[in-house]
Amino acid sequence: MYLENKKIVVMGVANNKSIAWGCAKAMKAQGATLIYTYQNERMEKQLAKLASPEDLLIECDVVSDESIRRAFATIEARFGKIDGLVHAIAYSKKEELSGNISDVTREGYALAQDISAYSLLAVAKAAKPLFNKGAGLVTLSYMGSERAIPNYNVMGIAKAALESAVRYLAVEFGKIAVHVNAISAGAIKTLAVSGVDGYKSLIKESDSRTVDGEGVTIDEVGEIAAFLVSPLASGIVGDVIYVDKGVHLT
Ligand SMILES: NC(=O)c1ccc[n+]([C@@H]2O[C@H](COP(=O)([O-])OP(=O)(O)OC[C@H]3O[C@@H](n4cnc5c(N)ncnc54)[C@H](O)[C@@H]3O)[C@@H](O)[C@H]2O)c1
Repeated sequence: MYLENKKIVVMGVANNKSIAWGCAKAMKAQGATLIYTYQNERMEKQLAKLASPEDLLIECDVVSDESIRRAFATIEARFGKIDGLVHAIAYSKKEELSGNISDVTREGYALAQDISAYSLLAVAKAAKPLFNKGAGLVTLSYMGSERAIPNYNVMGIAKAALESAVRYLAVEFGKIAVHVNAISAGAIKTLAVSGVDGYKSLIKESDSRTVDGEGVTIDEVGEIAAFLVSPLASGIVGDVIYVDKGVHLT
C-alpha cells in the first residue's frame, strides 16, 4: 500500500458519482488517511453518507478567501502536515454551456475562471506551508481545453487556464519537492457534466471513441490520481495525463 501514513486532502466530492470520490476510494485502498473538503451544507450531507467516521470533513467554498484560509487552518491544526491534495472542482453557469462562445457574458466568464482555474492557485497557496516533501498535487481537466467541444465553451477556456496554472505551479512547487500535475479525464456522467447542454450526446460520443467502446470510470481516474499524488510520481512534473481510454487519440 503505497499511501500508507499519507494524509491526502480531497476537494470536490459531491456524491458517489464524483471523480473526487473515485480518487478517494483508490487512495483509501492504498492506505491513505483522507481529509475531505465540501462546498456547502448540501454537499456535506452527501459526503457524510460516503465518508468513514475517522475522516475529517471541512467546509471550503473556493469563491471565498476566508473559507479557504479557515479550511487549511483547520487541517493544519488537526493534522499538521499533508502529503497530497486533489482539486476536483469546477463550475460554470448552465447558460454559458450552450450556443455560441461569443455570447459568453463577462460575468459568466469570470465566474468559470474563478471557480475552475483560479481556485487551484488559491488552494495551492493555502496548502503550500503544509506539504511534506514528496507530496503531490493533482487537478482535473478535460480535452475541451485543447479542442472546441460542442457547448463546453467557457469551461474549455477555463480548463486551458487551469492546465497552464499547473505548469507554473509545478515550477514553483518543484522547489519544495511537491509535484503538480493534471489528469485530463474522459467524459463521465457526473453532476458537473450535466450542466453542459447536450451532455448525453457528449458522453455517448466520447464512449464510442474509447478503445473498447466503454467509457472511462471514476475508479480508473482515481487509480491514476492516487499514483500521481504519491512519491512514486515525483518524476512527473507539470504534466497533463490523459485518462480517457484513448478518446484523445482519434
Ligand atoms: N465528468 C466529466 O466528464 C469530467 C471530465 C474531465 C474533467 N472533469 C473535472 O473533474 C472535476 C470534478 O467534477 P465531476 O465531474 O466529478 O463533477 P462533480 O459535480 O461531482 O464535482 C464538482 C465539484 O465541484 C465542487 N464545487 C463547485 N463549486 C465550488 C465552490 N465554489 N467551492 C468548492 N467546491 C465547489 C462541487 O461541490 C462538486 O463537488 C471538475 O474539475 C471537472 O471539470 C470532469
